[in-house]
Formats: sequence, structure tokens, C-alpha cells
Amino acid sequence: MRATMRVDVERTVATIDPNVYGNFAEHLGRCIYGGIYEPGSPLSDERGYRKDVAEMTRRLRVTNLRWPGGNFVSGYHWLDGVGPRENRPHRHDLAWHAIETNQFGTDEFLEYCRLIGTEPYICLNLGTGTIDEAAGWLAYCNCDDSTYYAELRRKNGHPAPYKVPYWGLGNELYGDWQTGHKTAEEYARLAEETAKVLRWTDPSIKLVACGAQRVDWDWEVLRRTARHVDFVSAHFYFRPEPGEDVVTSMLAAPYAAAEYLDVLAGLIAGARREQKIAHPIGIAVDEWNSWHRARKSPLEERYDLTDAVCVASFINLLRRRADTVKIANLAQLVNVIAPIFTRPDGLFLQTIYWPLVAAARYSGPRLVRSDVEVDGFGAARVLAGSVPYVDGIATVDPDAGKLFLSIVNQHPKDTAEVRILVRDASAAGDMQAHVVTGDRSDRTNSFEDPEAVHLVSRSLTPRPGELVWEAPPLSSTVLEIALGG
Ligand code: AHR
Repeated sequence: MRATMRVDVERTVATIDPNVYGNFAEHLGRCIYGGIYEPGSPLSDERGYRKDVAEMTRRLRVTNLRWPGGNFVSGYHWLDGVGPRENRPHRHDLAWHAIETNQFGTDEFLEYCRLIGTEPYICLNLGTGTIDEAAGWLAYCNCDDSTYYAELRRKNGHPAPYKVPYWGLGNELYGDWQTGHKTAEEYARLAEETAKVLRWTDPSIKLVACGAQRVDWDWEVLRRTARHVDFVSAHFYFRPEPGEDVVTSMLAAPYAAAEYLDVLAGLIAGARREQKIAHPIGIAVDEWNSWHRARKSPLEERYDLTDAVCVASFINLLRRRADTVKIANLAQLVNVIAPIFTRPDGLFLQTIYWPLVAAARYSGPRLVRSDVEVDGFGAARVLAGSVPYVDGIATVDPDAGKLFLSIVNQHPKDTAEVRILVRDASAAGDMQAHVVTGDRSDRTNSFEDPEAVHLVSRSLTPRPGELVWEAPPLSSTVLEIALGG
């Protein structure tokens, strides 16, 4: 298969927000307990954080971490998780039918964010929680005055406010699986009033309204909350359509999601125009991943090469929409539908870890104009009717003088010969290819075979004036190119 990728390094399309490399940790299965946090383990530090997990998270360059849920948060009361650990109550977690011991709470989460060098993003309980409770949580985290919750934080050993920048106005309240499920009108009113009070408590915060990947809900939410919020969320989980070929169906799924991102961007533009709103409202894709096998808690999905390619193409699709998508959070970080998989004596990295690392490490902040000319495959679930076999985006890091081409070959069998035409720039010397691929679409990693699919970097010396990348079938590659004069 042949493809041509044209790149114009001088034409910046948008600046990619670093927050698209975010992640998510929920009190669910072994994500927190036995994942991030395992006091007493020889692999943990004195505070109980798993050092190996923290290290692999740092390598992922996670820019923001959403917590504590997910479905869990819609029944969570934050006061249960602060103060002396021995006094913290055990509660039923009705989202995942577990017992929550509250040993990991707000202070443990915020200390963890510091440990891994990431910005915290707290999702509030708008299921069973109250406006007062939400405002109290914000005051506990961010206020530096003499009020009750700021004092409580000091009493708990944390004199300085944490200054948590991102706050989510609830999780998936449109679904009856949610504790405190609401209609669009009920949710929008509660979100509007909560947003007002939160802003009055701390005007510096950024608020995320809960979207539903549905026009009726999202429009109602925007109608009510647009004046008060900075983002509207969308969640996307990729799974094959029943009766379709698993590989091509999985690879089409991110394109259907991306089509909705364009719809949501239109709704946001419409709301801003109608309500004469000057401030920008971005999209927060604050849960996304491939997820189709382990549907019940503890959701310990094992990922294969197809999932890795699906994840790689969605990161491209998110960044291609850098003008509207400002936050994204892979769901989730450890063990639960996650790139990092632990057991008491170690961890291995799932296939999807590698495209995530490649995207975060090998890319620049400037999305530049590019297009790929290539054949596609039929896909009933996308309005466009087909999906290109090769997906590509180009980013530039002007400080490093580098161009990064993120190229995903979605063909299950054929190598793609990608001819690359870069306008108004020349490649200076060697380039690096960072490649994730494997020998079979269903190839997985495991404790026994941890590197069946991983990231391999090598140098290439292109012939002068000719840049061709032979992208293996089912692969994701970043070409790192030094730009010359
Ligand atoms: O990430 C797993 C679950 O998926 C989250 O708790 C929920 O928000 C979504 O439905």
C-alpha cells in the first residue's frame, strides 16, 4: 500500500495543550489500593506509594490526573477520606459494589500528584453530594484564609493550600448506572448553581461540565452552564461492533468518537454565540480508552496490538483537534483498563503504554498542517463511511528545532510505503524512528513476556531529497526529524 504525507512546517494549525496527556485514577478494583498505593509493600515508599508505579507514571509524562472517579465519585463523601487514618470510616461503594476503606483520600492524592509531577483534577460528587460539600472540598484544597475547611487542612498537617486547578462538575450523571442519576435539566441546574458557588469560593479554578456524547444533553448543559464553565466533557470507550471484524471495527471506533468531537465543538460555538460568551470553552475528553473485554469490576483488561494501534490513532485524532480539545485523560492509570499492570512483586507494561509514551515524549507543542493521501477501509459506524489506512499528524518543537511525524498504519496485513513531502524545510542529517508494532494483531504483553509489544527506537539516514517510511502493518511510529535551515 502506498501513501503520501504532505507537511507544511510553516503553517501552524493550533497549539497542543499539554493537558491532552492526562490520566485518570479511580477507586475501583486495584487502581488505587494495590496499584498506586500499597502500604507495607517492599516496593512502596514510607508513605505507601508504589515506587515502581510512580516511576512508570513519570515516564508517561502524565500532565494531569483525574480522581477519585468515575462512577465511584457519585457516592463519595470527601470528608470520609481526610484526617487520622484510624478514624476514617469504611463505606459501601455502590458504584463498584466494594468496601471503601478511605485510607487513600484527598491529601494522599494531592501528595501523589506532587510525587509524580502532575496537576490534580478533582471530580466532584454531583450524584449524592451537595453544593455545600463541593464548596467545602474546594476550600479544603485551595483556600488560605481562616475558614473552617482551610483550618481543617492545616490541622491535618498541610499548611499550604494545594491550589487544585481543575474541578469536574460530576461524572456521567446522564446514565442510570450512576448513583444520583439525573435528567439533563436536573443536572444542568445543579451544575449551574454549583459552578457559581465554586467560583465565588475560588475564582482561579477551571470548571468542567459533564457532557454525555449526546446532542440533547450537551446542548441543555451548555445552555445552563456555559457562562460558568471552561470545559465540557466527553467520554469514549472503544469496542468492536457485534458481528464486525474485531480489528477493523476497533480501528474505526476512534473516528466515530472524533466525529462527535466536531459536533460538540459546534454546540459550544453555538452556545457561545447565542449567549455572547467571550471566554473560551474547550472539550475535556476526560475518560477514553479501548475497553471491551473486562466489563465487570475489577476491569483488568489485557491489551493487545490492535488496542495499541487504536490508542495511537485516537491520540492523533485528539491532537488534530487541538483547537477545541484541551484536556484528555486516558482511563485509567493502573490495573483497571490501564497501561500499567501490577502484582505484589512487580509490574509489566501493557501494549497501550507504548503509543502513550511515544506521543508524550516525541511531539512538539505546535500542530502544523499535514494531510495523508491513502486508501481507506469501509466503516459503517462513521458518517464518512470509511477510515484511512494511514493516519498521520505533524508537530513541531521550535525550541528543539524538531519535526515529529506521528504515523499510524492501520492495515492489518500490508506495509504502508509512506512518501513524505515536507514543504519549506529540509531534514538535517539523521532521523529517529520510534516504532510500536508486533507480529500479530492479538499479541499481548504479560509478566512472562513483557516486551512482546514495545517501543523500539532506531536511527535512519534518508537519501537526500527523499523521505520514505515503510510503516509495518498495525504499527504506530513517530519520526523525529531535525529541521535544517
Ligand atoms: O473508567 C471506568 C468507568 O467508566 C468510570 O467509572 C465511568 O465514569 C465510566 O463509565
